[in-house]
Amino acid sequence: MSEIQIFGMSPLKGEISIQGSKNAVLPMMAAALLHRGTTVLMNVPDIRDVACMTDILEHLGCRCRRQGDCMAIDARQIEQTAIPDCFVCAMRSSIIVLGALLGRMGEGGGCYPGGCLIGARPIDLHLKVFRELGAQIEEKDGHLRVRRGAGGIRGAEICLSYPSVGATEQAILASVLAEEVTVVHGAAKEPEIESLCDFLNNMGAVICGMGTEHLMIQGVRRLHDSSFRVDGDRIVAGTYGAAAAAAGGDVLLKGVKPSDLREPLRILGRMGARIQPEEKEGRIRISMDGVPGAVHICTGPYPQFPTDLQSPFMAALACGQGTSRVEEQVFEARFAAARALRAFGARISIREREAVVEGTRPLMGAQVMAPDLRGGAALAVAGLAAEGETRIGNCRHIERGYEDICRDLSALGARIRWVKEDGT
Ligand code: EPZ
Repeated sequence: MSEIQIFGMSPLKGEISIQGSKNAVLPMMAAALLHRGTTVLMNVPDIRDVACMTDILEHLGCRCRRQGDCMAIDARQIEQTAIPDCFVCAMRSSIIVLGALLGRMGEGGGCYPGGCLIGARPIDLHLKVFRELGAQIEEKDGHLRVRRGAGGIRGAEICLSYPSVGATEQAILASVLAEEVTVVHGAAKEPEIESLCDFLNNMGAVICGMGTEHLMIQGVRRLHDSSFRVDGDRIVAGTYGAAAAAAGGDVLLKGVKPSDLREPLRILGRMGARIQPEEKEGRIRISMDGVPGAVHICTGPYPQFPTDLQSPFMAALACGQGTSRVEEQVFEARFAAARALRAFGARISIREREAVVEGTRPLMGAQVMAPDLRGGAALAVAGLAAEGETRIGNCRHIERGYEDICRDLSALGARIRWVKEDGT
């Protein structure tokens, strides 16, 4: 198990290309199951969660071939319809494979994804989607089996009480090959949902309403071979924006749409950063003199501030000036990073879903453990703005969503590297 070593207090300078989006590519890989043929994805990030989804697809009978950042998924032969427990436990989002299996094979099974480090993460809305589409659901010993109803997957009018990303993806995947039209009211509007719909339409699906809370999916009988380029990862880009705010400097992030990051860029501007978005070129220049000013962040469904950037931004605020408030309105237990940041001398008090951050400069380097994926990235952000050495353990969490955070940040001039167990 390797660690990350950082020597902080160096401003960031330079330009990097942002990897493909984890939260866009995972549902696309699941959607490839819907087509009895080959689907090619480009700009696929080389991260643990993609490796896990690849293992799931291959277990089900697909052939996945990777060449650089391209992946070809041949889903002609599907021999299994149950997802092994180990995969669901390793990656909760594998639950959306059930929707694709239901659509393609008429059935799918897997264990209940437990809660995780950031909350209970129930799947009641996923089950509601299946029921409204006429599927039967059997639940036994912590396992779930969904089956097409006697009348097939009929169209439905589904109202989501919360714009759940996963439940919206479930509804789309399960209804693309349905007999009739499905409408989803209260759908999530994250860019990753829009990408999934664009990807499916490129395969021959008929989906409209993207970017709104009302999606309409007209069932089709078959899809066709296709290729599609995955957008840049807005959360990885936002993480590096927070790093630039924390460490200071001048960075250019390429291969990402500024319009996907409107609220985080607005907040960075309020923190004192200079933002130069170039939508056509798909890049964002972020420069920061001085220390981050205090702001109020409140996470919420898109287009509100994304919960996945809450802890990286909190790390930047912790090394700034003034008193900031951070409200986490999406997940009920997503302040583990805030507690870990105290090891750097950060002054953060937590009450229910609100953290109050008293900016402290400089933070002091610390020996810490990544508590979860985005919390681990937040500790790296803090290390960049801390005096002395920081060591971060438990980096497997970070590798789930960041191709190589050391590669990217050192390309921007940070003194950061992987240290193997033997110290090399
Ligand atoms: C997706 O998770 C993302 N994961 C998460 O990113 C992201 O934080 C989240 O959306 C919110 O944007 C992937 O895309 C793989 P939700 P998901 O369903 O689909 C409640 C990361 O760091 N809820 O929108 O699980 C739930 O408890 C990860 O990359 C129900 O109550 O998010 C939570 O409070 C972390 N019942 C809220 O909705 C349900 O049936 C948001 O969950 C489903 C969800």
